[in-house]
Amino acid sequence: MATQIDLSNTFTLPGTSMTVNRMGYGAMQLAGPHVWGPPRDPEAAVAVLREAVKAGVDHIDTSDFYGPHVTNQIIKRALHPYPDRLVIVTKVGARRGQDKSWIHALSRQELIDGVHDNLRNLGLDSLDVVNLRVGGVMGPSEGSIKEPLTVLTELKQQGLIRHLGLSNVTPGQLAEAQAITEIVCIQNLYNLAHRNDERFIENLAGQGIAYVPFFPLGGFNPLQSATLDTVAVSLEATPMQVSLAWLLRRSPNILLIPGTSSVEHLRENLKAAALQLPPESIAQLDAIAEAQER
Ligand SMILES: NC(=O)c1ccc[n+]([C@@H]2O[C@H](COP(=O)([O-])OP(=O)(O)OC[C@H]3O[C@@H](n4cnc5c(N)ncnc54)[C@H](OP(=O)(O)O)[C@@H]3O)[C@@H](O)[C@H]2O)c1
Repeated sequence: MATQIDLSNTFTLPGTSMTVNRMGYGAMQLAGPHVWGPPRDPEAAVAVLREAVKAGVDHIDTSDFYGPHVTNQIIKRALHPYPDRLVIVTKVGARRGQDKSWIHALSRQELIDGVHDNLRNLGLDSLDVVNLRVGGVMGPSEGSIKEPLTVLTELKQQGLIRHLGLSNVTPGQLAEAQAITEIVCIQNLYNLAHRNDERFIENLAGQGIAYVPFFPLGGFNPLQSATLDTVAVSLEATPMQVSLAWLLRRSPNILLIPGTSSVEHLRENLKAAALQLPPESIAQLDAIAEAQER
């Protein structure tokens, strides 16, 4: 039986009718090794997606440059026709080199092609939310995003995109974007050990904008910390569950998209939605980033 998640812990994307459970799922790990090519076990990838939706997940994060194309094609195979309540968030602004590298793809034509690739491979006429991904994966870099965002705004006016978000951006870039169009979510790197966005998260919470941390578990090398292990043992939980529970209580506008290629890990992660962290555990966890900064 699918692990059911707490369906009352939801967030509504600003200016939209899209209310999602704060515990979602990130699909990047469904492609092959290094997010390249097909998965080793395609049936297992389909099973992860079906289990997630069965458990109550209604927010899936993806991109057509995962694979490339592979992740979206698996989502379509597993879940199409999509349940009404399911919100699929995708991103454009990058492409993959033949050497599996991640390359910016921010020209007008690349963005238009990116949106059409997502529509085709997901089997949709309109994309719920598209994030414009600009900076590097380890952090944003200042610079105008007006040109690429204007292209996506045109595609939104044409009805190909319902809502827009940004990924790997600074507060200054968000302000520039908001003068052009409404932004419903920000997707940046943030987890127990990487907390550069503390003030940005507060700022977004004040505006009712969702903050969706990528690499919530640490990414390709999941978080490792003796303190995390100690807290997990004291709560009879796993370190990954504690990491996710810490993010959920960090701010009510945080939406989680942990990634996994395993049904077992998915079930474990979803259970984190019900994990309560006592104040002493939170104090111990807060000290992890401080220790790294020293
Ligand atoms: N905007 C951007 O630039 C950007 C960049 C990166 C990612 N993203 C998005 O963020 C989502 C989440 O990131 P992510 O999947 O790369 O990183 P993540 O969620 O931090 O961690 C995924 C890694 O943790 C492992 N894992 C998951 N659950 C586990 C568990 N319970 N126990 C042990 N290991 C576990 C996974 O391996 P198994 O498969 O073996 O479980 C995988 O190696 C992605 O799916 C993607 O949609 C966005």
